[in-house]
Amino acid sequence: MKEKIGSLLKEVKAFNAENLEQLEAFRIKFLSKKGVVTALFADFRNVAPEQRKEMGQLMNSLKTAVQDKIVSLKESFESTVESTIKPDLTLPSNSPLGTRHPLSIVRNDIIDIFSRIGFTVSEGPEIEDDFHNFSALNFPADHPARDMQDTFFIEKDPDIALRTHTSSVQVRVMQNTTPPIRTISQGRVFRNEAISARAHCIFHQVEGLYVDTNVSFVDLKQTLYYFAKELFGENTKTRFRPSYFPFTEPSAEMDISCNICGGKGCNICKYSGWVEILGCGMVDPNVLESCGIDSKKYTGFAFGMGIERITMLKYQINDLRLFFENDVRFLEQFKSSM
Ligand code: DAH
Repeated sequence: MKEKIGSLLKEVKAFNAENLEQLEAFRIKFLSKKGVVTALFADFRNVAPEQRKEMGQLMNSLKTAVQDKIVSLKESFESTVESTIKPDLTLPSNSPLGTRHPLSIVRNDIIDIFSRIGFTVSEGPEIEDDFHNFSALNFPADHPARDMQDTFFIEKDPDIALRTHTSSVQVRVMQNTTPPIRTISQGRVFRNEAISARAHCIFHQVEGLYVDTNVSFVDLKQTLYYFAKELFGENTKTRFRPSYFPFTEPSAEMDISCNICGGKGCNICKYSGWVEILGCGMVDPNVLESCGIDSKKYTGFAFGMGIERITMLKYQINDLRLFFENDVRFLEQFKSSM
């Protein structure tokens, strides 16, 4: 019996399985009910009492050797299976590259440009009350200017509405900050307009505000002049046209030389060589006062622009609805502009 166990031990030690089936056959051969080890244990009662201790130890070591062998071979199989499914990090990736939405690209560009000259970013709510969206911005209750912005009202008396412009954020900033203030705010705005290639009921704006002592129209012009060149290129020309907004006095609109035809005239600029990109002006003293800022001590300028419009000009996109459809064929064209 001793020799038998010895040769079985040798067999077990030398055993190697190429696959799980072979390993299972090995297990059955030794450990199943009719297996070799079980049979040996059954034979144990025939062992002479003085040999029992030694035989018992030998049989146990055979059993343990079989069990250890099974465990170690199983582990080696599992680790080879694992290693075959481990990703090869050196392989070139063929997963499709995501893209940022063009509106996000342009919004981030605009934020970058103004951050470089010390503007911070402020946020405000999309659901606004009448005070922040209109009254504090010098829209008298019955003023027709309120009709310029077809409002989606949520509640009447007191009026709660979806903000029609990001100018509401300047009110919140001025109420909460002592000048100097240099900030931009961006986000969604809402107007009850029929959806077409040129208009949508949801769009995005960036608002800018600068309030300090001695801020003048020169500062306004220089800031926006820098902005236009940074965003549209060094050769971009700008011009200011007088305009009207209730919250600024004087007010202006800024045009840039058409970046599509270079100012020669095309259907985007309607053959004028110029395209309008933003509204701006000196903050009306009434607005400063409504927000708790001393208009004798401080002056300021503000500006506001539509991100869709700027993006359309920058990327020559001719239908505003494309921004909201999320058609991947459209979005994929912005891969290189991350
Ligand atoms: N809030 C204006 C609009 O939605 C845009 C605007 C014009 C903002 C002039 C300003 C500004 O701050 O000074 O049409």
